[in-house]
Amino acid sequence: MRTIDSAIDLCVPPLSDDWLLDPCSIFYSLAKELPGEDVWLDTAVGQLLLLQSSESANRVLLNKDRVFDKYFGAHYSVFGLSRLTANGDAWRKLRDLSQPKITSVTKENVVAISQLQYRAAVNRLLAKATRQCPVEMDEDIDYAAAATIAELVLGIDSETLGPDFLTDLKILFSLTAAMNWQDIDLEHPQNVETLHQVKLRIQKCRSKLAEIRPQLISQSPFIDDLAHSDCDDLDFANELITLLVAGYETTASAICWALQMLARATSEQNRIRAQLLEIPDPIGLDDLDKIPALQAVAQEALRMFPPVPVVGRVANSQTQIGKSAIQAGQRVLVSIIAVNQNSGAFENPLSFDFNRFEGTGLRQNQPMLKSFGSGNRVCPGQQIALVEIVTALAEFLRMTNIRVANQKLAPFSFGVSLRRKSGHSLELHPVSR
Ligand code: HEM
Repeated sequence: MRTIDSAIDLCVPPLSDDWLLDPCSIFYSLAKELPGEDVWLDTAVGQLLLLQSSESANRVLLNKDRVFDKYFGAHYSVFGLSRLTANGDAWRKLRDLSQPKITSVTKENVVAISQLQYRAAVNRLLAKATRQCPVEMDEDIDYAAAATIAELVLGIDSETLGPDFLTDLKILFSLTAAMNWQDIDLEHPQNVETLHQVKLRIQKCRSKLAEIRPQLISQSPFIDDLAHSDCDDLDFANELITLLVAGYETTASAICWALQMLARATSEQNRIRAQLLEIPDPIGLDDLDKIPALQAVAQEALRMFPPVPVVGRVANSQTQIGKSAIQAGQRVLVSIIAVNQNSGAFENPLSFDFNRFEGTGLRQNQPMLKSFGSGNRVCPGQQIALVEIVTALAEFLRMTNIRVANQKLAPFSFGVSLRRKSGHSLELHPVSR
């Protein structure tokens, strides 16, 4: 039974087109038009409850009565089990395999490795920018983020994975991203071809991992443990792919958005660069506290442009969320976009405020922000991500002046994480010292 008067009909044009092509623009519009209100959405494949209020989001994410499972829809049937898609005991076992490794990464190491990888990325981008300006940033930032996570968490040199591996993963996850939360009809002719492509690429990635397995094991005690684990629920390739993608795509997305915002604010950018240039090269962990303005940019970018804009759950029994009665099997989406724009917690929540988080430091689990989720499925990589984002931004600002190529933001794209449809293109000019 539904207790809200009306649902938003996403089955008729133009909303039905937007829902398929640019669902994030709908999430942003709803967050603005109906702030803090949970809304039912009528979609071609049934009703979804979109949770926009912090109370409802907390109810579902904290999940104290264990009524909600993670929803991975068709995505699960394509990829199978991994820490990201498992529920219940299987999830606990898989979590216990990778959690100690992720949480034992030291901040010093994050700074050191990120610095090397992003400095290399900035140099590559500057070289491209001399030939083609503006330059499309996503690919090089993705590569740096992947190399950072590969080394920090998996303990491997990203070169071992080979040049095509990340490209294949990206295409693979982009094709299946909507399957995480939209029910995709896998029998539909259009989807049959996509699925075929997905399967080919999964096969290619799996074959590659099988081929280099001995090398990976010899490089990394963590991978050695995974490869020899007796956990029945573990699929070696799935787990590696999941950890890599969860760790790099999101962080790269946050860096792209923060750079977009900095590119639009010359005076803020100059102020932060002046602080950065006071710090001797290379920057160390202690130096990050000397650039509170840059830490604030990272947090505000995560608030306004959460790399994971929505998360999906499904009720395993009857329950209640706020005014809405929920039947077993009902799917709900937590709009992280909307919760992060809660006007009770943030003044002028719709505007990007460079000073909003100044002085709060790189605090994990900011109570009113849900960019890293919450509850027992909260992101285990948030400390790595926060330190990596600030280190990466510091490298960009020390080495480049960033300018926008186009004031108007292109539509959103929600592949693996929140991006711009045409990629993040910016003008990069070397900083002269
Ligand atoms: C800015 C960067 C990041 C953002 C915004 C982010 C966001 C999230 C969110 C929202 C979830 C929870 C999804 C849900 O509740 O359904 C999650 C889960 C997860 N994240 Fe992150 N993440 C980031 C970086 C990382 C990094 C660096 C790692 C490192 C390996 C990582 C590994 C994971 C894993 C393994 C999970 C699954 C947790 C579980 O269910 O056991 N993430 N992330």
